Amino acid sequence: MNVEIRKAKEKDYKTVFSLDEKFVLYHSRFKVWKLFEPSDKMRKVWKKLFIGFIKKRNKLALIAEADNKIIGFLLGKINKRRGFKIEKTAHIEKIFVDENYRNKGVATKLKNEFIKWAKKKGAKALTLYVAVENKKALKLYKSWNLKKYCYGMYKLLK
Ligand SMILES: CC(C)(COP(=O)(O)OP(=O)(O)OC[C@H]1O[C@@H](n2cnc3c(N)ncnc32)[C@H](O)[C@@H]1OP(=O)(O)O)[C@@H](O)C(=O)NCCC(=O)NCCS
Repeated sequence: MNVEIRKAKEKDYKTVFSLDEKFVLYHSRFKVWKLFEPSDKMRKVWKKLFIGFIKKRNKLALIAEADNKIIGFLLGKINKRRGFKIEKTAHIEKIFVDENYRNKGVATKLKNEFIKWAKKKGAKALTLYVAVENKKALKLYKSWNLKKYCYGMYKLLK
C-alpha cells in the first residue's frame, strides 16, 4: 500500500471532520467520555480549530492519503515552556487512522513526519494524552518508546 503524508489544506476540512467524528465515536466507549462528549456547537468550533492547525506557525495538521483518499490525520503543536531546560515540546493533539487501514504503519508514518517538523522547530520531547482504557493506542505508544509520566484525574460536579 502506498501511503502519502502531506500537510492538510483548508479544503480537507470536511473529510477530516468526518474522520474526527469516527475518532469521537471511538472514544465514546471509554469511561472518561462524559468529559469529552461534544456539544452541538462542535462542528462550528472544530472548523476554526482545524484551520488554526493549518495556519499557525506552532501547529501542524498532517493528512495520510492512500487509494486517492484521506485515510488518517494528525493534529500536533509545539508547546513553549519558559523556564525549563527543555523549552519546546512537540504535542500530538489527535491521531486517527481509518479502521480499514490500521496496522499498516500509517499512524507511525504520521508521527515520524510530525517529529521531523517538530525537531526543525526546536522541540526536544514528544508528549500526548491517551485514555487509560485505550489499550490499542497505549500499546502503540509503548512501541514508539513513549513513557507514562502522569495521571490525569477528573470528577463530574453535580
Ligand atoms: C491508534 C491508531 C491511530 C493507530 O493507527 P495505525 O495506523 O493502526 O498504527 P500503526 O499501523 O502505525 O501501528 C499499529 C500496530 O501495527 C503494527 N504495524 C505497523 N506496520 C505494520 C505492517 N506493515 N504490518 C503489520 N503490522 C504493522 C505496529 O507495530 C503496531 O503494533 P503494536 O500496536 O503492537 O505496537 C488507530 O488505531 C486509531 O485511529 N485508533 C482510534 C483513535 C485513537 O485511539 N487514537 C489515539 C488517541 S490517543
